[in-house]
Amino acid sequence: MNKKGARIAGASAVLLVLAAVIVVVCVVFSKRNHHSSTGAAELPVSEKLVKAFCQPTDHIETCEAELSKAAAHARSPADLTEAIFHVTSGKISEAINESKALIDDLRNISKRTSRALHNCGELLSYAVDDIETTLARLQGQVYSVGDLKTWISAALTFQETCLDGLTDSSEAASKMSAALGSSIELTEDILAVLDQLPVAVTLQVDEDNAVPNLVVELKPNITVASDGSGDF
Ligand SMILES: *[C@@H]1O[C@H](CO)[C@@H](O)[C@H](O)[C@H]1NC(C)=O
Ligand SMILES: *[C@@H]1O[C@H](CO)[C@@H](O)[C@H](O)[C@H]1NC(C)=O
Ligand SMILES: *[C@@H]1O[C@H](CO)[C@@H](O)[C@H](O)[C@H]1NC(C)=O
Repeated sequence: MNKKGARIAGASAVLLVLAAVIVVVCVVFSKRNHHSSTGAAELPVSEKLVKAFCQPTDHIETCEAELSKAAAHARSPADLTEAIFHVTSGKISEAINESKALIDDLRNISKRTSRALHNCGELLSYAVDDIETTLARLQGQVYSVGDLKTWISAALTFQETCLDGLTDSSEAASKMSAALGSSIELTEDILAVLDQLPVAVTLQVDEDNAVPNLVVELKPNITVASDGSGDF
């Protein structure tokens, strides 16, 4: 692609992202209007934030349940972004402990299952690293959404690969599957959140190869006011 073509492709990507943001904002607004027209009690700000934040995700219930617990005092989407990363890596860390416990607890464990559980521990530690590193990058400089999603997709693959390896013991498989259930959903939700993050979008052209990079202002620029004004 030449430089001009690259810029056009980049600009189209920006438009797509903006369109996605606008759709989400519209959905949130129409829900809110519907809500107030029914005269139901206003939700606390943090609950409204959580609902708006989780609305574009694939697993809304898991997202809302975990964030309501973990980020009850969230004041901004940036707080929730941080919280969903921490909750997810925490759940995966619990699953690492579960894989170790199963090696000790399961009776008559086969060599193969034992090896698969050891692999799980290793794969899941990579997943935790990916999630924590991605959060650190997200809070630092601007990064391309594509790169952030690549790291989170890897975290998802590590968890799925762990489960795929447990073919020899249905007990180990079902226990690890339960241990990873919510973290896999939350990791998928992070991918959806990354798609929604860009609010202030800029286009940067890489000097070396003139590949357009969609980079974003990673602190979502949406606000909530306690009087109900603001974006939500
Ligand atoms: C995992 O186990 C270690 C060692 O027993 C413990 O310190 C840690 O808190 C556990 N982590 C989670 C997330 O439960
Ligand atoms: C372990 O396996 C042996 C032989 O396959 C079997 O006799 C025994 O009952 C098993 N023990 C448990 C607790 O499953
Ligand atoms: C955030 O939004 C406000 C109001 O919509 C705007 O004035 C401000 O410039 C925005 N900040 C960034 C960093 O985009």
